[in-house]
Amino acid sequence: MAEIIAIDGPSGAGKSTVAKLVADRLGFVYLNSGYMYRALALAAQQSGAESNDCVTWGQLAVSLQIEFSPDGKHLLLSGEDVTEQLRVPEISGIASQASACPEVRAEMVRRQRALSEKYPGVVMEGRDIGSHVFPQARYKVYLDAQAKARAQRRHSELSALGIDKGLNELAAEMRQRDQADMTRELAPLKRTADAYYLDSTDMNIEQVVSSIEAYVKRGGSK
Ligand code: DC
Repeated sequence: MAEIIAIDGPSGAGKSTVAKLVADRLGFVYLNSGYMYRALALAAQQSGAESNDCVTWGQLAVSLQIEFSPDGKHLLLSGEDVTEQLRVPEISGIASQASACPEVRAEMVRRQRALSEKYPGVVMEGRDIGSHVFPQARYKVYLDAQAKARAQRRHSELSALGIDKGLNELAAEMRQRDQADMTRELAPLKRTADAYYLDSTDMNIEQVVSSIEAYVKRGGSK
């Protein structure tokens, strides 16, 4: 059984940046479960099936050919590296919608569990990794930040990709998506009592990464 470090939290809390660094420092493999939902959204968009029902979404999820690069930082959809295309706001919205479907979640969770078996140690980020996918994980982190800071971070990330979206519009979209992810019926995003809680609003990346590293080195005691 792989050693799992689960990192959950709302969008823009810094999960990806932090999870990659934690994985590098501890010699674990980094896996972004959100990329899997995003790959489904992209495949749906490419096949014109964005607004379909859960059964169709589920069938598409089962037929998806997705693979991570060996370092986990890139996702290949049918053999093509689509990592950059996964980050655009439109895909975020479709991914969030599709992720509420039971058929989709069942398939993604099955894939995430199977994938983890390939490695001795995995840092997996997402929304339900500690609460649902790996409830037995020894290390669980809930990474949070105030909404304004999260929107600003996402805004800078998108600007770096050449996507210029107004801060207010982006903040509203993120609020809506977080609300949907936290209130959906199946495996919603929630802070569990056994997770190590970090509010990164006033912390820099190094401070967040070292806190998580120290938590792991303490053997998971908060
Ligand atoms: O982490 P992210 O923003 O890339 O995730 C995109 C969407 O996928 C998110 O809005 C909800 C869904 N998701 C999920 O339901 N469960 C996960 N473990 C990861 C992502």
